[in-house]
Amino acid sequence: MSCQALSSLSANGRWGGAMTQRTLPPADEEIAAMPDEQRTVLARLWWSQAATERRVAQSFAVVERALSTLEADAGIVATAGRAIDDEHRHAALCQAMASRYLGAEAAPAPELPFSHPRHPAARSEDVRAALYVVGQCVFNETFASAYLAACLDAATHPLARAALRELLSDEIDHARVGWAFLATMPGALRADITDWLLPLGIANLREWRALTLPAPGADLERHGVPARGRIEEALVSALRGVVVPGVAHAGLRSAPFAQWAENGART
Ligand SMILES: [Fe+2]
Ligand SMILES: [Fe+2]
Repeated sequence: MSCQALSSLSANGRWGGAMTQRTLPPADEEIAAMPDEQRTVLARLWWSQAATERRVAQSFAVVERALSTLEADAGIVATAGRAIDDEHRHAALCQAMASRYLGAEAAPAPELPFSHPRHPAARSEDVRAALYVVGQCVFNETFASAYLAACLDAATHPLARAALRELLSDEIDHARVGWAFLATMPGALRADITDWLLPLGIANLREWRALTLPAPGADLERHGVPARGRIEEALVSALRGVVVPGVAHAGLRSAPFAQWAENGART
């Protein structure tokens, strides 16, 4: 899609101008002077990220309900509720980034169809609810944090760094919802959730590996698009260095899960 096509899709300005103006440094001449093709690649990347962030807000509505059902600590439930707003704010931020790279107001990102894993094999409704929390927070948000950290690490342009830093600081908090839940999870759920770690890990990592990214290049790295190898490294390192020891620390020791992570985490 060209820059022009992206901007001509009935733009209506739903991208949280006041907030993003505070967050993002002003547009600069470097971006204005970038080749049209590169700006389009970056605009499309942020535009599709905006759509994804909006869908994650729906996932957090499911997580918040699940935590309420499980009578989780009120602070954990409240943080999950706040994450719904955070993800909408992320969508607005990504939308603004698309406009910055486009050099014009981007059309609103599309509404993606929402569905979440139903876990039909879960032994009870409580186990199913806990799986929503663990899948979204312990796995997905931890991988999101690793992915964004790799992007931030690659980025040298102030605009990309500002946006990535804001996203990353929230995703870390969203992962904490999962870790706090694991630490306080009712004992009756522990054995079930331990058995689910391997299938959850495989399914979640597979999705992250399927992420569509533009071909790497030094110019894109400056704007926060690292080479695929660096993302893979960040994901596997988060799996081995955060998720595996984290679940063990919470008292969920799954040898098959730890072995899978150690043996290359094939998906
Ligand atoms: Fe987000
Ligand atoms: Fe998040």
